[in-house]
Amino acid sequence: MPLDRSIKIAPSILAADFANFGAECRAIEAQGADWVHVDVMDGHFVPNLTFGPAMCAALRPHIAGVMDVHLMIAPVDPCIDAFATAGADVITAHLEAGPHIHRTLQAIRSTGKKAGLALNPGTGLDAVPQLLDLVDLVCVMTVNPGFGGQSFIASQVAKVRALRAMIGDRPIHIEIDGGVTVATAPLVAAAGADVLVAGSAVFKGGSVGNPAPYGANIAAIRVAAEAARG
Ligand code: DX5
Ligand code: ZN
Repeated sequence: MPLDRSIKIAPSILAADFANFGAECRAIEAQGADWVHVDVMDGHFVPNLTFGPAMCAALRPHIAGVMDVHLMIAPVDPCIDAFATAGADVITAHLEAGPHIHRTLQAIRSTGKKAGLALNPGTGLDAVPQLLDLVDLVCVMTVNPGFGGQSFIASQVAKVRALRAMIGDRPIHIEIDGGVTVATAPLVAAAGADVLVAGSAVFKGGSVGNPAPYGANIAAIRVAAEAARG
């Protein structure tokens, strides 16, 4: 079956109400989210702390679709089984998180989960051809990881375009993470991305009690991205 290259919007629950994660996940899916993006931070690889596998396991019953787990942790390998058991569908690790990304991707694949490779804005594509047989997704960070609400780094658009050419017809998603808005989504969609993570731009103006803005925000990003693809 060919890869689904349609635009998929993946709200990051980093921008959700931390006292209400289950309801927030249900709300964004009801409002049109395709995937739910879960940002795991360790206060070491990135300068912020969020949550771990127990939170992912608790969220799993509240997410009907894809649970997309972005690991901003180092080391990665000792935690892979815990996130797989917690019900992640995609487990993404950073190239920069250690010296053995090839082994890490093998370990993720061995759990039966989809393997993602994330690249910081300062990282080039040099290592990617050697890893393409092991990945189901490449995540191009368009901010430096650690916090929501940062500005999109425009220099990454050329990297997305080069990555798209490198991937060819392999069944690999290109995900964009950081600063995705109605204004920036068209740039990366035109360059070849298909999964757009968005935190602030999805959750702004809404709440569990008033989820309609989530739907409007998701639809606006999707329409802008699809229009840019032509
Ligand atoms: C940043 C995270 C992102 C972040 C995106 O380290 O990986 O997923 O939450 O948030 P926005 O869309 O607000 O830039
Ligand atoms: Zn993320």
